[in-house]
Amino acid sequence: RLRCAKVLQLTLAVIKPDAVAQPLLLEALHRKILENNFIIVRRKDLIWKRSDSERFYAEHKGRFFYQRLVEFMSSGPMRAYILAKEDAVSHWRELMGPTKVYRARYTSPKTIRAQYGLTDTRNTTHGSDSSESAEREIAFFFPEFSVQHWLEMEEPHFR
Ligand code: TYD
Ligand code: MG
Repeated sequence: RLRCAKVLQLTLAVIKPDAVAQPLLLEALHRKILENNFIIVRRKDLIWKRSDSERFYAEHKGRFFYQRLVEFMSSGPMRAYILAKEDAVSHWRELMGPTKVYRARYTSPKTIRAQYGLTDTRNTTHGSDSSESAEREIAFFFPEFSVQHWLEMEEPHFR
């Protein structure tokens, strides 16, 4: 008999400083990850230096929000997760909702950013936007982790 052909994808999810600063919200977001059947592959609490923040968001350099984004992301502790699921990248982004909190509240009120986001910058969570950025971002947060090795050696055990 053929096995179900599901293949797990990895994504990077980050709970940003605004949400980590609220213990009950941090707890609720952790629960949301589990309730949505993501596998937590790795988890790390960390604080960025300003230079980490600038490097991670280099693609946005020059945008009107860059300075406040960089400052905010290095303003306090964050929690990063490597999550695995079928279509993990798009599922986590669906749960987060649109980037801009006020748009999120209007178009998708049940999403994380709509419910808990404070402003367009302090928008509670990050999620990779493609499999390629997931790989790059996982390497940024978890340099000791090998995506290739996990997909080859570990992923089959979770199917
Ligand atoms: P972006 O990659 O466009 O959004 P997403 O986080 O949904 O992938 O932008 C990165 C971060 O930059 C975003 O989460 C918050 C900040 N940002 C602003 O503060 N204002 C804005 O208008 C935009 C587009 C982003
Ligand atoms: Mg983005």
